Amino acid sequence: MTLKVVLLVNIVLGCAQAVISGILRTDRESNQFPGPDPYLVGGEIVTDRFFPSVVSLQINKRHVCGGVILQEDAILTAASCIQGDYASSIQVVEGSNQLDVGGTEHKGHEKFPHPGYDIEKSWKNNIAILKLETPIKFRWGVVPVKLPEAGAEIEPGTTASAVGWGSQAAGENATNDLYKVDLPIVDLNVCNETYHPYSLNVFDNEICAGGVEGEGTCDGDTGGPLFIDNEIVGIASWGKPCAEESFPTVFMKVSHYVDWIQETLDSH
Ligand SMILES: *[C@@H]1O[C@H](CO)[C@@H](O)[C@H](O)[C@H]1NC(C)=O
Ligand SMILES: *[C@@H]1O[C@H](CO)[C@@H](O)[C@H](O)[C@H]1NC(C)=O
Repeated sequence: MTLKVVLLVNIVLGCAQAVISGILRTDRESNQFPGPDPYLVGGEIVTDRFFPSVVSLQINKRHVCGGVILQEDAILTAASCIQGDYASSIQVVEGSNQLDVGGTEHKGHEKFPHPGYDIEKSWKNNIAILKLETPIKFRWGVVPVKLPEAGAEIEPGTTASAVGWGSQAAGENATNDLYKVDLPIVDLNVCNETYHPYSLNVFDNEICAGGVEGEGTCDGDTGGPLFIDNEIVGIASWGKPCAEESFPTVFMKVSHYVDWIQETLDSH
């Protein structure tokens, strides 16, 4: 699986059309950039319900983004995934690794993008909560995600797993099967320097992972999780499409947002 950011695709390659789902969403917001939309490239098909908190965000039955279950009526995703749409036009599908079989659908009810989300500033704070109209029934293979401790840091070089239905190459459709790809955590300064020539910034509340040829995120992986030992450490935000050597994907650092997540859930 390759996570990539459509944003960079547009800037770097100038291919405005090479965008799917999540990218289109950001496109509508800015009319300028395709926006972040990482998907997974390379990697392996997930067998069994090994990632029981992972959900597919869909518009008109098409996968656009990833997400994870926070509680029975709320999921965590990227702000760029929900910005352009009414909450009620987003469907969350849980309980299946395959997009075309099984799974239970829930309509979105209310969306809460992070108030500091800023597409003009390299999609800073690209994180959001989507409340659902109908509750998710927890059962075997469907449980809420495990959040990290507030402020927890991860050493560069640590291996983390990105999970999603994102396409295997820029501009392609989502994959029907859920994929997982193992990626190394990349030093934040190195990541920042990598994107500096493109006028993109990486922030302290983000994590970079990947930069391995043929292994990473791509279109449709945005909003999806980065796990270490089944604990969510990151939410896919943006990157250069897809899975190119030396171009890591940027993830929101979830340990920085656990208080915001809790406050948002408590007050709505
Ligand atoms: C991609 O999805 C669209 C819409 O579902 C479909 O019409 C098209 O045939 C798909 N393309 C490929 C290569 O599968
Ligand atoms: C990224 O680089 C910019 C420009 O050099 C700098 O202002 C910013 O502080 C850097 N971000 C991090 C997280 O180091």
